[in-house]
Amino acid sequence: MAMTIQWYPGHMTKARRMMQEDIKLIDLIIELVDARVPLSSRNPDIDELGKNKARLILLNKADLADSAVNDAWMTYFRQQGYTVLQVNSKNGTGIKAISQKVQEACREKIERDRKRGIKNRPIRAMVAGIPNVGKSTFINAYAGKNCAKTGNKPGVTKGKQWIRMGKGLELLDTPGILWPKFEDQQVGIRLAMIGSINENILNIEELSLLAIDFLRENYPGAINRQYEVEEEAEKPLEVLERIAERRKCLAKGGEYDYAKAAAMFMDDFRNGRIGRISLEKPAEENE
Ligand code: G4P
Repeated sequence: MAMTIQWYPGHMTKARRMMQEDIKLIDLIIELVDARVPLSSRNPDIDELGKNKARLILLNKADLADSAVNDAWMTYFRQQGYTVLQVNSKNGTGIKAISQKVQEACREKIERDRKRGIKNRPIRAMVAGIPNVGKSTFINAYAGKNCAKTGNKPGVTKGKQWIRMGKGLELLDTPGILWPKFEDQQVGIRLAMIGSINENILNIEELSLLAIDFLRENYPGAINRQYEVEEEAEKPLEVLERIAERRKCLAKGGEYDYAKAAAMFMDDFRNGRIGRISLEKPAEENE
């Protein structure tokens, strides 16, 4: 069965316009990507939108991705000239290293300011990324309590809210929302697998079969460890049935409740319960 992803990006036109406006105000884009799918979760237009701006790439949700593959992606992005860091915005791992990385990413600007005799002009930054990549979680983790809001005073023209981060950095408090590469089917499937695309768009059972196939090929033994079922089978559907049986996802009359089993399996898959899983590796992308 072919899966078609119909995700009309109407509201993205507005998001892009906002992003274009906001970008004029900043020196640095803190670009969040999902560490499990660093390419599929990138926006195709960001290089164009963000040209002439410094960039810091954060491999967010690094806790859910394969750590060896995270390291490979670090190398990949560094080789492309980006400053890059792994973070877990949910528990704050990696957040402390950001200030240092911001300085690194903005070295040219700081140097330029210095030559012109400009001292202590803060770096202004915005966070950007596709929906669900963790922008709000990141801003909360990074800004935390040690920050002061600036901007908007009552009665004054409505402006942007900046979060003063100390150490010469101001962060726009609303992130830039970017859109993924809608037209690429593989990208759509990977984003659906990590749960970034609205489930109604994709058939969860179909998705779970793809995930089972992917795991058996790339992380042999992972399904077996999590569910204590034999993962060798001619068809992935048989594996889903074994999981359904093991987890009592059965309908009245003892039939398999495929939808329930698939939903449970995908939830485990997305939340790291089957292990740390990377869906993309740099070498494969370069082939
Ligand atoms: P957005 O603003 O870019 O749309 O994303 P948001 O911060 O709302 O985060 C989307 C989901 O990703 C949230 O989960 C959030 O907790 C989770 N998340 C963000 N960063 C990380 C990370 O580094 N590691 C992990 N493991 N998860 C992360 P949710 O399911 O919507 O909520 P909840 O489960 O946290 O309650």
